[in-house]
Amino acid sequence: MARSRALSYHGINDSKTRRTLGLTHRILLTRRIHQDAIDALESLGSVRLWPEPRPMPRDVLLDWIREADACLSMLTDRIDAPVLEAGAPHLRVVSNMAVGYDNIDVANAVQNHVMVTNTPDVLTEATAELTWALMLAVARNMVSARESLLRGEWGDWAPDGFLGHELWGKTLGIVGWGRIGQAVARRASAFGMRVIVLAKRSPSEPGTRPLPEFLAEADVISLHVPLNQTSRKMVDASWFQRMKPSAFLVNTARGPVVDSAALLDALNAGRLAGAALDVFEHEPLAGSDPLASHPRVLATPHIGSATAETRRAMALRAVDNIAAALSGRRPLDLVQPRSGHLQ
Ligand code: GLV
Ligand code: GLV
Repeated sequence: MARSRALSYHGINDSKTRRTLGLTHRILLTRRIHQDAIDALESLGSVRLWPEPRPMPRDVLLDWIREADACLSMLTDRIDAPVLEAGAPHLRVVSNMAVGYDNIDVANAVQNHVMVTNTPDVLTEATAELTWALMLAVARNMVSARESLLRGEWGDWAPDGFLGHELWGKTLGIVGWGRIGQAVARRASAFGMRVIVLAKRSPSEPGTRPLPEFLAEADVISLHVPLNQTSRKMVDASWFQRMKPSAFLVNTARGPVVDSAALLDALNAGRLAGAALDVFEHEPLAGSDPLASHPRVLATPHIGSATAETRRAMALRAVDNIAAALSGRRPLDLVQPRSGHLQ
């Protein structure tokens, strides 16, 4: 089934001719997603699916986008100027199945009259849960303890074996007070943590701190900002110099928010107790990468939203956004400014 769908959109490319002939919308799906969402997409038009269990190669994307009215993309697809320009004759919407959309050149999309949408809300709780899982696991050395057990090293119980630090009574510093940052903060009282938030600008509201105080007070710093020009390499050597040497860094946002060379230096110099990282400057990260294998780093392969419930909800939400765009309605999750000329 996937094969015949992958072959063509009925061969007729000119959009006017297609409309006259009553042909349906052509939708490019860059990766297999939940079947319910594929079924929903097929009710909107003819779907061309990249069926392999790996990201669509760039040359295929550049080729297939030429015939698409809509594209349902993943965060691993780089939707930049060449892709948008290749799609320009027909492409009306790029619906990214992710809350982040730093993989898309939104300014260029606006120029080419292409709508860009994301999938907020539906992944908030899943990402907040992963953040807590990482926080607890890194603070309690769970991974090294498990690995030691599997290596058969469990001899006698030791009063000083695998000593971590407890979170109870400590201060959680949130960077990025959006949906996910707030969902992480909501769970803090259950773990006995006080929350502070990095102030965007002074004068600060209660609970927020300007950067110097934020870095001096936080025992765990958790990142929840989107990747953009302001946040790129925001967490740099100057942060590590001012953080508590007993502090942990948790990143479930985007890798390039952290200067990874500076992080590695700080870990090696003992200026940081540990880091739990789900995202990296360059993904996929090799298992041999010094960050992945560092004894005080807990690394996971970008799984913030990876629950069965959430991935299905994201896929359906991405389809809803395509449905709206193709029927001339304003998609719920349009990322362009409200006043943009795409309305
Ligand atoms: C995942 O990283 C997302 O942006 O949804
Ligand atoms: C530890 O297992 C304890 O019982 O204190």
